[in-house]
Amino acid sequence: MTSLKWWQTAVFYQIYPRSFADGNDDGIGDFKGITKKLDYLVRLGVDALWLSPHFPSPNWDCGYDISDYCNVAPEYGTLDDFKHFLSEARKRNLRVILDLVLNHTSDEHPWFLESKSSRDNPKADWYVWVDTPPNNWQSCFDGEAWTYVPERKQYYYHYFMKQQPDLNWHNPEVKQAMWDAVRFWLDLGVDGYRLDAIGTIFEDPNLTPHSVPMNLAELRRFSELAKTDEEKKLKDQYWADMFKNQWGQPGIHELMKELRTILDEYEGDRMLVGEDDNIDYIGNGKDELHLVFNFPLMRTEQITPEHIRKNQQERLTQLDKLPVRGWPCNTLGNHDCSRIYTRFGDKLHDAELARLNAALVLTLKGTPFLYNGEEIGMTDYMLTDILQVKDTMGSWYYHTIVTEMGVHPEEALFRTAEMTRDKNRTPMHWSNKPNAGFSPEGVVTWLPINPNYREGINVFEQEQNPSSILNYYKHLLKVRKASPALVEGEYVALQEKEQDYAAFLRRAEKQTVLVILNYTEKRLDLDFSDAKDVKGKNLHTVFTSAVRSPADHTAQKLTVAPFEVFIAEVTP
Ligand code: GLC
Repeated sequence: MTSLKWWQTAVFYQIYPRSFADGNDDGIGDFKGITKKLDYLVRLGVDALWLSPHFPSPNWDCGYDISDYCNVAPEYGTLDDFKHFLSEARKRNLRVILDLVLNHTSDEHPWFLESKSSRDNPKADWYVWVDTPPNNWQSCFDGEAWTYVPERKQYYYHYFMKQQPDLNWHNPEVKQAMWDAVRFWLDLGVDGYRLDAIGTIFEDPNLTPHSVPMNLAELRRFSELAKTDEEKKLKDQYWADMFKNQWGQPGIHELMKELRTILDEYEGDRMLVGEDDNIDYIGNGKDELHLVFNFPLMRTEQITPEHIRKNQQERLTQLDKLPVRGWPCNTLGNHDCSRIYTRFGDKLHDAELARLNAALVLTLKGTPFLYNGEEIGMTDYMLTDILQVKDTMGSWYYHTIVTEMGVHPEEALFRTAEMTRDKNRTPMHWSNKPNAGFSPEGVVTWLPINPNYREGINVFEQEQNPSSILNYYKHLLKVRKASPALVEGEYVALQEKEQDYAAFLRRAEKQTVLVILNYTEKRLDLDFSDAKDVKGKNLHTVFTSAVRSPADHTAQKLTVAPFEVFIAEVTP
């Protein structure tokens, strides 16, 4: 039906391996578990999987500190388990992309162990070494960005934790070694990579200090306490200023071009999606990344019709300006941020808003990325004990504010539970059995299970319940797949001043659909009889989240229920 590539028509589903499915009953997800759940993913209706890092790692940053790029973490299985998973995914027509962490390795990676052992070993220059800290740069996770190593009597640079030393990408041997790792998995048949934190790969060559009058912990605390608009504005300014010399520096585009050349050597349209929202990383539209995430869509306290329109207007205009038109990529959640259900809820209509926002991601133009668990309405889980914290940036913050700033441990725990990413990484709920069916009863899971699995937030119960959010996702995914307009159509905003609802067309050669997302609890009487492309036409319902008969409507008089998602084909 289309000349688009697979990564433009596919719906991606992010698997966080540690929390997805436990196949060997040890409380930690693994490949055996993932493989067993592939049929579930097929039933759900997604087309491609993105795996967060599955490589050996000491897990200071939950797998984003890699100690071997060409292997599988023992807790997730063996390389053979991976190959088996990949071939089972293939059999089901599921594509698979992996996470590629270029900026840094683990401090336990043999490259770093060698590099830090002396100043004149063969890998001495593989990381960023200095004699004394040249500036006040901060690590975005845990304080100072320069850490001392007695063996070399020198400091190394790390944008993230001190267990994540930055590679020196100016060294051609580093590149060679990393490109070998990239080829290793491409040779095994993976379909591409999600590129981690590409903005951090190079630093300001002049090492210009930041100008913020506080360090990282103080800035976090300042942000928590910011109440007035002025304080909030200042806080945003400080965050931008603190890291601006460690981010988005020259060199990345050349590197992305090299990486793209490698991918293009392979058959089968291998792809790259960057963890960045900067459209510049798409290059001229065919020489750097295939996709970058539309993070500005989720970078808001509340999803509103106005926000959606403004976001689409800006993004699509930028993408359209590229020499080869860029393709959008939308998401509202991942392993680094509060879950959609919690984050964009209002505590009164969370269920309705979760459905609206799912429909938003699945009906906007572009490739959608879903995060495991959102399809059953999983929520954030606030840890209740500091000993439960696995996200090291959380425990660092707790100890810093308690010991250096005198914050009461109770408040510090509350703040930590709110800021750690553990809250949105708890194990998937497969059933209403103990441990949510993730692990057998009695097993201690790596993070606590959110007890709300007993309240219907689990796959087993939702699969039997026609009105569950899971069946809602399945239905929407089916509708999307069957609709050329939703897959490939242009986005055309309608009635652009309306605050209550977002209305837009998706217009393809063979089909036009109208999408209405009512973000209020009001019943709305709408009239599209003046709208371009709808004038004088009929509306044939293809999807509704409301209880209504699937009748045809005229464009002139369309009643939309509170929080309704309404999708209709525009017919003559
Ligand atoms: C990315 C990952 C995040 C990780 C960081 C450092 O932002 O998504 O989870 O902590 O990079 O690798």
